[in-house]
Amino acid sequence: MRIRIKEILERGAGSAPCSFSGWVRSVRSSKGICFIVLNDGSTVDGIQIVAEPSLLNFGDICRVGTGAALTVTGTLVESPASGQKWELAADVVEIVGAADDSYPLQKKRHSFEYLRTISHLRPRTNTFGALFRLRSQLAQAIHRFFSEQNFVYVHTPIITAGDCEGAGELFRVTTLDAADPPILDGQPDFSQDFFAQKTGLTVSGQLEGELFALAFGDIYTFGPTFRAENSNTARHASEFWMIEPEMAFANLADDADLAEKFIRYLCRFALEKCPDDMVFFDKHIENGLIERVRGVAEADFTRMEYSEAIERLQRSGASFAYPVEWGLDLQTEHERYITEQIVGGPTFVLNYPKDIKAFYMRQNDDGRSVAAMDLLVPKVGEIIGGSQREERLDRLELRMTELGIAREPLWWYLDSRRWGSCPHAGFGLGFERLVMYLSGMDNIRDVIPFSRTPRHCEF
Ligand code: 4AD
Ligand code: MG
Repeated sequence: MRIRIKEILERGAGSAPCSFSGWVRSVRSSKGICFIVLNDGSTVDGIQIVAEPSLLNFGDICRVGTGAALTVTGTLVESPASGQKWELAADVVEIVGAADDSYPLQKKRHSFEYLRTISHLRPRTNTFGALFRLRSQLAQAIHRFFSEQNFVYVHTPIITAGDCEGAGELFRVTTLDAADPPILDGQPDFSQDFFAQKTGLTVSGQLEGELFALAFGDIYTFGPTFRAENSNTARHASEFWMIEPEMAFANLADDADLAEKFIRYLCRFALEKCPDDMVFFDKHIENGLIERVRGVAEADFTRMEYSEAIERLQRSGASFAYPVEWGLDLQTEHERYITEQIVGGPTFVLNYPKDIKAFYMRQNDDGRSVAAMDLLVPKVGEIIGGSQREERLDRLELRMTELGIAREPLWWYLDSRRWGSCPHAGFGLGFERLVMYLSGMDNIRDVIPFSRTPRHCEF
């Protein structure tokens, strides 16, 4: 059984010979001795291997290339060199998989833009090693959080017939021949398609999640979502992961309380479970990151009405590319100004105009706003979007009519308001935005293993 480098470094010297495997980060020879830094993905630090000329294959070891796979057996000893506590005095070095000097990761530092073109290799760099370890830990933290709160985990479908957010960003799923589809009245005839109707990839599991909340009380989903929105920004991906909790017998304030508790938990979890990786991000990606994340873990999040946010933006005297006016949606520049300049920390904006929000949000008594909330955080802007849902059947049907949304395809959703309807609320957290926020990375393409964005789906 191989041991992971993280474990060896934590265990320290004085133990029997140990054996481990990994990939070469660097090789150098000095005074007839060969030094190899090996990394196995378990920790940002590699381990230095010291190979003496007495080794049988010493010549081959000295010529081993960056990127090669090795299995090494030896004894951990205190390192005389600075910057590392331990090194491994090698007894056996087996070259498992060679790498020649065409291996692209020869240099220490490459731009993130370049590394995106080699997504198949970038997990072998320090930054992406740290990042995907953090991502993995956070995914597990999410399940832990909800499990501790007794939420039921629901797998909502990926292929759906509806567009939950109503923004028309559905990727089509079809088995019709694109070059020669059956035609009815001048249109492709989807009744002859695989599902005998138009279908697409889900943009959100919320509507199905609501049905389960009305049976289990508290539920959450965590899965991939797809949006064919043609926005080429650093915060939008065409395929991203979303966490969507939904609570029955809950209102907008309860929703914000849960979101706040959740984000604080995730901040604490990252600091506790990924200390070395967080130190790495603090040093190389965003100075002061740990301080910031620790601050959020302890902060009370500000809550501000949408109307107040608009007034304060207008009064700020700042100049924005997009207009600021009651009734208009907040753009990223506005969101960031609110959370970074006006508040200086995470901020809930509550009760948005109904005309810029989805049909399912609960209509407020003022007749013009809905019980919506967005959580805005520095650097990222919107990280969470949620709302209390319209539980009153007549109001919901009226709103759908106003928006021209057909009732018939949503008969099952409307049924949930027909029998045993109750106030309920939920939100969606974009998982990649969370990882950006906690790592300091600036581009969503760099926090997902293989990003899908407009005109980009190579591998
Ligand atoms: O605000 P959104 O569109 O809300 C919903 O989908 C609701 N159904 C959620 C709910 O109430 N259950 O999306 C929720 C979050 C956003 O705040 C953002 O973090 C993320 O999902 N998100 C994206 N992340 C990456 N790329 C995109 N294209 C995203 N669109 C939304
Ligand atoms: Mg939103």
